[in-house]
Amino acid sequence: MRVLDLDRDMSDVIPTGTTRDSQHLFALMTERTLALAQAGPGRRVLDVASGFGQDARALSKGGAWVVGAEPSSRMLGWARLQSAGLSSPQPAWVQAWSHRLPFADSSFDAVICKGAIDHFDQPEAAIAEMARVARPQGRVVLAIANFESLACRVVRGMDTIREAWLAQPVRRGRRHYDVPADHFTRYEIDLMREQASRFLELERCEGVSLAWGIPAWTRAVERLPAAAAARALQLLSAVARRMPSLADVVLLAGRPRARRASTTSR
Ligand SMILES: C[S@@+](CC[C@H](N)C(=O)[O-])C[C@H]1O[C@@H](n2cnc3c(N)ncnc32)[C@H](O)[C@@H]1O
Repeated sequence: MRVLDLDRDMSDVIPTGTTRDSQHLFALMTERTLALAQAGPGRRVLDVASGFGQDARALSKGGAWVVGAEPSSRMLGWARLQSAGLSSPQPAWVQAWSHRLPFADSSFDAVICKGAIDHFDQPEAAIAEMARVARPQGRVVLAIANFESLACRVVRGMDTIREAWLAQPVRRGRRHYDVPADHFTRYEIDLMREQASRFLELERCEGVSLAWGIPAWTRAVERLPAAAAARALQLLSAVARRMPSLADVVLLAGRPRARRASTTSR
């Protein structure tokens, strides 16, 4: 039996870190996801797993006609509350699981799914659904955390040296490179490409942010003057963009492949 409401609270899903490298990562991930959606006036956009709806609202503000689809009543309630009373056009909010989107084929010019697919219990069925509801020349954009990023590898290597070679006590709690308890899939770039390309003709694969969460880097960026910190973060992100396998987050964008009857879970 499926749970009816994930009943998440905001601390489960909204990044709480206030370090400069965290702010840079989350801001750039959002900026690039929305840019790749190529939204704008007159375009129809679906945000799958829209959470509390900030991205759907930003797309609406840009003139697109937007639907935010989200299974959690609590998240939807939050999204509706934030939209209430605003005079500008607001997204339509729909309660839905990603593997069973309640929309006709080819309904949207773009479908985005940001920071969420690793939470899905049926990620491939979800991508199939996103491809189904996107127009044949439309675009699906996935933003996914990379658990084989340079940062994950470096921090894992440091822990191995500390624990196995220097016999220091094993650190408690979730580590930077551990998949959170509410994730179903541990993604790295090959798995992302493999799953996405079953349903999408991939047009773009780019990385966002490099070295996020390496303790020495986080501290160094905090100590730099603001302008120098911003430049350093942008420089590393320029590298990440071209080397997505090392990046902290990977963005994949593509057109739906020609329809196949067996691709959905319906
Ligand atoms: C980390 S949040 C990301 C929310 C939003 N996309 C953002 O960038 O802020 C993950 C979201 O995935 C939703 N979710 C989890 N499992 C899902 C599923 N099977 N289908 C659709 N959404 C799901 C959760 O309710 C949550 O809102």
